[in-house]
Amino acid sequence: KNLVILISGRGSNMQAIVDAKIPGARIAAVISNRPDAAGLAWAAERGIATAVLDHKQFADRESFDAALAELIDGYQPDLVVLAGFMRILTQGFTAHYAGRMLNIHPSLLPSFPGLHTHQQAINAGCRIAGCTVHFVTAELDHGPIVAQGAVPVFHNDTEATLAARVLEQEHRLYPQAVAQFVAGRLSLDGLRVLVADEKP
Ligand code: GRF
Repeated sequence: KNLVILISGRGSNMQAIVDAKIPGARIAAVISNRPDAAGLAWAAERGIATAVLDHKQFADRESFDAALAELIDGYQPDLVVLAGFMRILTQGFTAHYAGRMLNIHPSLLPSFPGLHTHQQAINAGCRIAGCTVHFVTAELDHGPIVAQGAVPVFHNDTEATLAARVLEQEHRLYPQAVAQFVAGRLSLDGLRVLVADEKP
């Protein structure tokens, strides 16, 4: 299966997916909307095709998303993996990849969609935080949930210490979910997530 991974920065989730060497997965390309994304160099050093599509060169979201879809589809992806891709996506773009685009979000959705999730969890007094892998739909951070990883929140946590604890779970969870999809054991039926052989 061909994977196209979209990043905007560091790309540590992309690295975790690449390093997992998922059987049957080929990383067709890593694409960033930011030319300075650190993850691009990491991927290029490993011989992975990389591309940049700078959203600042586009007049609006529609034209950026149209160009992005054209770029992605050139790699004939079976799965598009959003890994710290910090762009709000248009309805047309998400519909085009329905059932074949995953995202990871650093909170236990449906709590705390959007930005500053760790500070929000601390401010709310949460004793448990975590991360969520979900299929992408038009509503930001609201698609059908595939998997979650939980961590404790300590009373002396800061945004940084909590983020680091959650990130460890992200790096464990995301390659697992991608591997399930690649193995044909994870799919989307309408808004329902189907996982093969999962016991109730
Ligand atoms: C991760 O915490 C991801 O969940 C969030 O942004 C961060 C990206 O980190 N959306 P990286 O680029 O994968 O290192």
